[in-house]
Amino acid sequence: MPTLRLPGVDLSLADHGAGRPVVLIHGFPMDHSIWVHQAQALAPHYRVIAPDLRSAGCSSVTPGKVTVEQWADDLAAMLDALKINEPIVLGGLSMGGYVAFRFFQAHRSRLAGLILCDTKAAADTPQAAAGRLELAGRLEREGNRFLADTMPPRLLAPATLDGKPEVVEHLRQIILAGDPVGYAATSRGLAERPNFTPLLPQIDCPALLLVGRQDAISTAAEMNAMARAIPAARIVEIPNAGHVTPLEAPAEVTAAIEQFLGSLA
Ligand code: MLT
Repeated sequence: MPTLRLPGVDLSLADHGAGRPVVLIHGFPMDHSIWVHQAQALAPHYRVIAPDLRSAGCSSVTPGKVTVEQWADDLAAMLDALKINEPIVLGGLSMGGYVAFRFFQAHRSRLAGLILCDTKAAADTPQAAAGRLELAGRLEREGNRFLADTMPPRLLAPATLDGKPEVVEHLRQIILAGDPVGYAATSRGLAERPNFTPLLPQIDCPALLLVGRQDAISTAAEMNAMARAIPAARIVEIPNAGHVTPLEAPAEVTAAIEQFLGSLA
């Protein structure tokens, strides 16, 4: 994967195809490869860019803490470096959705549409934020091996855990490949992210919301409430998928995204 040298950070990114730019952002603790199926399917018609965020995957690690503000500004710097001036479609899964909300706030003119996948607008409860700080400390002390065991059962639907061992293994490999110091910095930043709920009625570009019906982290009920708050939103619920729908139900996710992209002017 090519690496883009930006001031203060090296971003590793997959960049394929030509046409309207579609930028796809991963969740935590993950990397760009959760979007591999969609990137392959869309590349004949779109330029699909899937970066590893700062402190994730093969991008450089900023120790301590990375915030949604920083990640969104990294994406804007990435677009500048790639000389992409036309409005993009930005998609994000979970943490990637938090980054997309912040990108909308800070860089609205660069957006033609949003894809919000298995994500939420609310900030952490104090209890959840405290849990993230504890997790950050543990990651720095112990490394990330334990995450590869604890996360898949939380992230994936029972049907995936029981019937798609290759997806479980892919997710485990992604988690293991990341840097524990990067994951710790990410976890601290996520604990501090703002509440984006007041932003939802201001989202004045088309938005596609995608949610796995068995998503235990960003539930279908929560995402339906988000879809009602965003003026031009449509929501697609995906059966037999949990929190990582692009890997768990690749064909359904690709079809929904293709239809959404085709509907944009
Ligand atoms: C993710 O998938 O990015 C995480 O579930 C986000 C979070 O921990 O809030």
